[in-house]
Amino acid sequence: MPIDPIEQFDGWIRHRFKDLNTQLEERYFGQDDPADVMRPEHVEQQMLHDEGLGHIQAILTAATLPSDEAAAYDLLGNVGLYMAALRRHELSNPDREQRSPFAQASALAMQLAAGLGVAPRFATPHVNLRNLAHGGAHKSFTWLHDESVFIINNCFSILGYIRAADVLRRVLPLGVTHPVTPKLLADATAALDEVSHYTEVLNQTLDVRRFFYNVRPYFKTYKVGRTDYRGANAGDFSAINEIDLILGLCRITDAAYSAQMLEKMPFMTSEDQRGLQSCARQTSLMDRWLEALPRGPLDESSRLALQSFLAVCEAHGRAAVLHHHVLVTRFIEEPATQVDIRHLKQITASGPPLEVLLHSLKSLTDKRAGVQRDDIETRYYDLQCLRRACQAT
Ligand code: HEM
Repeated sequence: MPIDPIEQFDGWIRHRFKDLNTQLEERYFGQDDPADVMRPEHVEQQMLHDEGLGHIQAILTAATLPSDEAAAYDLLGNVGLYMAALRRHELSNPDREQRSPFAQASALAMQLAAGLGVAPRFATPHVNLRNLAHGGAHKSFTWLHDESVFIINNCFSILGYIRAADVLRRVLPLGVTHPVTPKLLADATAALDEVSHYTEVLNQTLDVRRFFYNVRPYFKTYKVGRTDYRGANAGDFSAINEIDLILGLCRITDAAYSAQMLEKMPFMTSEDQRGLQSCARQTSLMDRWLEALPRGPLDESSRLALQSFLAVCEAHGRAAVLHHHVLVTRFIEEPATQVDIRHLKQITASGPPLEVLLHSLKSLTDKRAGVQRDDIETRYYDLQCLRRACQAT
């Protein structure tokens, strides 16, 4: 029986694709300027293009596309890995093109994405929580140790956020003063502290230069058809925003925040999009506490419940601050100062210049940490009010 072209493509992505990317990465890394990838001796770039195209043509002519959501998302991931790699090796660059030079891959990606309600490009879940391993090996761009370190610890961090969001969601029908609530909040705090733990693991185990020159470049903006789709980033999942909204550290009525959330939604799975939509309709725990505060001192059980709520907010803020000061600064901002000016424009995954991106990421971090800011909305004063209520006897 002939092998299904979709399976053949998957096999190619899991082996040969990784071999070719790894050979190229090792070569780039050994150059004086590791960011200079446009050299004639890199013949594997064309092989990557041609072999992948052969698989995609076979799928377009012979195969019936999967009707099952998980299988369609998986195939979209494979096309996305292929297109993101071609972009990484500069076989395409949205700044030079009106449309993607990869018409067949674009057609397949758009057809799949339209049925799924997601962006037609490679996104974080394709290498994280929707990445089926075969015999212990998960999908990735290369065989490089540092790529695996990044993917695995990113998975652990996302799982920490998901665990926190899962328990926080259960507080909503119980209310802030239910006797069970402090236990749920303590579980959420522990899960968020695990996120911080994995940030530390990344800080200690991921090689800065390897990440910057050989891993991060696969996460760039590229065109599908005529449209630019911003780069994938490790944060394209809903749980972190669900936590923002359930706690009330960020609000859907804050236009800057809701714009960021809307922008991010097509890069999430449809399941994540539904979860986030449901959180956006709820009254946050912070607003419930502000409504429930008595005029006089709190009774002991309410004080303990409020303390556990504030502890979750602090853990969420801590994780966000660490992401910014450890991961963003050390792995992107600092190495970017060493890069030849010609390559600087290509650095951020999401497209805007680095300083613009860092500015908006800092605002998001300050919202999560409830920092006092006069120029953007944060819950600093509301948190202060709750802290005072907790201390009053
Ligand atoms: C070496 C590791 C990492 C680096 C250098 C890094 C850097 C960045 C940068 C620069 C952005 C801005 C978007 C863009 O690049 O275009 C971003 C966004 C984001 N990252 Fe990371 N990141 C790393 C790992 C992680 C991990 C492990 C998580 C946790 C799951 C995470 C969560 C997020 C989130 C949630 C966002 C989107 C903004 C938001 O909603 O907060 N990142 N990251």
